[in-house]
Amino acid sequence: MSSRRKFIKNTALGTLGAASVFSQLSASETTRIEFKEVKPKKRPLIISTWNHGLAANEEAWNRLKSGSSALDAIVAGVGIPEADPEVRSVGYGGLPDREGKVTLDACIMDKNSDCGAVSFLQGIKHPIAVAKKVLENTPHVMLTGTGALQFALSEGFKEENLLTEKSKLAWEKWLENSKYKPVINIENHDTISMLLLDEEGNLSGGCTTSGAAWKIHGRVGDSPIIGAGLFLDNEVGAAAATGLGEAVIRTAGSAMVVELMRQGKSPNEACKEIVERIYNKHKNHKDMAYLQVGFIAVNKQGEYGGYSLRSGFNYAVYDTEKGNRMEKPDFKMTWKD
Ligand code: GLY
Repeated sequence: MSSRRKFIKNTALGTLGAASVFSQLSASETTRIEFKEVKPKKRPLIISTWNHGLAANEEAWNRLKSGSSALDAIVAGVGIPEADPEVRSVGYGGLPDREGKVTLDACIMDKNSDCGAVSFLQGIKHPIAVAKKVLENTPHVMLTGTGALQFALSEGFKEENLLTEKSKLAWEKWLENSKYKPVINIENHDTISMLLLDEEGNLSGGCTTSGAAWKIHGRVGDSPIIGAGLFLDNEVGAAAATGLGEAVIRTAGSAMVVELMRQGKSPNEACKEIVERIYNKHKNHKDMAYLQVGFIAVNKQGEYGGYSLRSGFNYAVYDTEKGNRMEKPDFKMTWKD
């Protein structure tokens, strides 16, 4: 192989500029090079929020390895904490609203920017699976409340009681004082958000939650809202949020993280900048006393990162290099600050 051809073979086409390369080559050489791609080192890569992300990653990874699509892997992965009664912030066993009702929010998004979401859904253990059906089987992006429930039932989902005895007791205890103060972090609380970069380098993501405990009946957080709780652009990267949904919605958090990556920021830098923005918007706000937000992000090159406003946030990462493990991102301040 000539040194000129070797050089081209070992170089990302994008860094040279396609026009200048093609102008120096014969037709047969260009055909060969058009299909050449420089692969990121770590693929697939799965990142999920909080400790419950570890079991979710494990399931999603195994599904991917046995041939599932990325979306099926996400549904199965985040389905683990959804079904786990000990996870009090997602699905079955989630802490209820102030009327004692468990209401669920979820969304899912694929490499083509197709998405599906459900909000204020009651009685269905796996809202993420219903969100996927919204994506696949309706002309819409989000269904809510009784409409979402009717749709789920029409798709064959089973209605069941999601309020466990433990969560009912916690609600009854809360009723004694009835003070609204979300407990993000205290029970390693919150949404599970999962981002997935598959072997082909395509991005997808999902998130699912029972939302803030003791919320007003009907409240919907950031998690089912594309652009707030989750966003991706398959040409750039993906981001997802956890924490107080109101703050994430006010700032279109995940969409902004992706836009910063588009402008050249690393996933860590992008997450940090949006957390700083949220802090600046909320430092004199009534929500500040209990405000926690965290973001995770991955770019098309397989670089990933995260950042949170307050200490305590962590996320699970699974890749081919180091396996499945927890990582702690940087944060702006502690709970005492
Ligand atoms: N991030 C979950 C919620 O606020 O509902």
